[in-house]
Amino acid sequence: MSLIKETENYLTKVINSLGYQVDSVKLEKSKMPEYGQYQINVAMQFAKRYGKNPRDIAEDIVASFDSRFINVNIQGPGFINVTFDNEVLTNYLNKCIDDFSNFVDKSENKRKIVLDYGGANIAKELHVGHLRCNIGEAIRRLIKVFGDESIGDVHWGDWGTPIGLVIREIQELYPDLPYFDESYTGEYPSVSPVTNDDLGVIYPRASLRKKEDEKYAEEAREMTLKFQKGVPGIRALWQHIVNVSKTDCQAVYDYLNCHFDYSYGESDADPFSKPVIDFLNKQGATEMSNGILIMHVANEDDKKEMPPLLLKKSDGAVLYDTTDLATIMQRMQDFTPDAIWYFADERQSLHFEQIFRGSYKSGLVPETVELKFNGFGTINGPDGKPFKTRDGGVMSLKGLIKLVYDKIEPKIKEDITGEERAVIANKLTVATLKYADLLPSRKTDYIFDIDKFTSFEGKTGIYAVYTATRMKSLLNKVGSNNVSIKSVPNQDVLDILVKLTELTKVLNASYSEVSTSYICEFIYELCSLYNKFYANNNIANEENADTKETFIAVTKLAYNTLSNLLDILGIEIVDKM
Ligand code: ARG
Repeated sequence: MSLIKETENYLTKVINSLGYQVDSVKLEKSKMPEYGQYQINVAMQFAKRYGKNPRDIAEDIVASFDSRFINVNIQGPGFINVTFDNEVLTNYLNKCIDDFSNFVDKSENKRKIVLDYGGANIAKELHVGHLRCNIGEAIRRLIKVFGDESIGDVHWGDWGTPIGLVIREIQELYPDLPYFDESYTGEYPSVSPVTNDDLGVIYPRASLRKKEDEKYAEEAREMTLKFQKGVPGIRALWQHIVNVSKTDCQAVYDYLNCHFDYSYGESDADPFSKPVIDFLNKQGATEMSNGILIMHVANEDDKKEMPPLLLKKSDGAVLYDTTDLATIMQRMQDFTPDAIWYFADERQSLHFEQIFRGSYKSGLVPETVELKFNGFGTINGPDGKPFKTRDGGVMSLKGLIKLVYDKIEPKIKEDITGEERAVIANKLTVATLKYADLLPSRKTDYIFDIDKFTSFEGKTGIYAVYTATRMKSLLNKVGSNNVSIKSVPNQDVLDILVKLTELTKVLNASYSEVSTSYICEFIYELCSLYNKFYANNNIANEENADTKETFIAVTKLAYNTLSNLLDILGIEIVDKM
């Protein structure tokens, strides 16, 4: 159990025993550190309820405290300030050196959460926005830290119009391929007629042409319908495109340390499209409108427009709404989850609200299962507008990775060469990208400021990794077996210890708000305090044996904690850089 939780339990007991009814008392990080490390603000809330002076209540409470706190004082109307006795701090943090779980208050009721956070669209190149899959990946790891179960699903966008478009364009380029010959009865070629590089040219061209040529656009829609319906040649070509594009996208996800337990796509939910529509029909939830099967999800008290769900077109084509509802049916059957969390661009929030309403209203999902949309902001270029390449094109995720790599690589020490240099440069590139992406609070748009993000100073991935590397090499040099914190020799040490007690609340906030920014901020603060301590103290040459051991133990504690936190973010530490 964390120190914070243990202390809160203690306070709750003390305060109840004084006759004040309270479920749980919160220990808050002090807003005025000169008065104490933490504060307790219950007296004001009791004053009204019990008709007493809050200061008297506060006096009453502090009179019952045991020796765990020092310098207890009351400020203002009844703010209680407390400071942990150093021995309490060191006893607790010594337990954390080798066991990160002592910082975590595990979930009392284990939850099973399905995470939907890849969303790459097949046939199109990943764009900068797909970098944000890092958020879902970090939350997947965080869920495990809390002892809950996570099921990550990439949910490929493999059932929509982009592939229809690409197929239409391939037909234009190679009309004689057997895929387009409806009388063809032989085997289809096992090798794809197009590579991923081809797709990089074909998709943009097709997408342009669609805008200018209505007939072409219609033919592309027909192609979409054909693979959805399973016309053999078109379905075979669809499969090639899916394989080629998926392999390419998967390599980028792997590079970014984003891992999925399931590699399902929208197409895997297709067998559930008919059952889900049948289900909604049976509930009387649907109706026909202009040849489209729809479901109303608006409520009388809606303040904004809430369009209906679009389920099926007259030609039988299914839509984005349909695949999402079908996927929900599939996930409920396959996983019986307690929650399904979606990570996508904040601009999709209306879509998800419609889907969630439809799911609950129809009884597809019981109210006890949480459907939650975790929207994220847009990544913009230096001008604050959508990220473009130098020549004005759309910036691909691979392009962004290369930009960062080219900035990072020259910063690595000259004596690191060859393969080793490349491995380190790649790890630092990923660290840079991830930290930059995970630092802002989830919903905010941010500017990808490459100079700032690749700097060794400030809130950056390489600053954090650099600090970890520094700690690690110190530990390797001095040895750190069985060390423990013996005392609190100076303020630098105390600052680190107090900061570490705050981690429990940082993790709680990250989990409850589904936002990694708290963890990133904490990492920065911890690294800054450690680097200050490192600069002020001659750790390796300290003469007092106990103090030296304490310095090493603090380093080990900071290092282990930092590496656990970086691991939640999916960032790897290097040995040198
Ligand atoms: N492929 C979608 C897109 O790029 C994102 C998918 C989000 N997940 C979902 N279940 N709809 O817009």
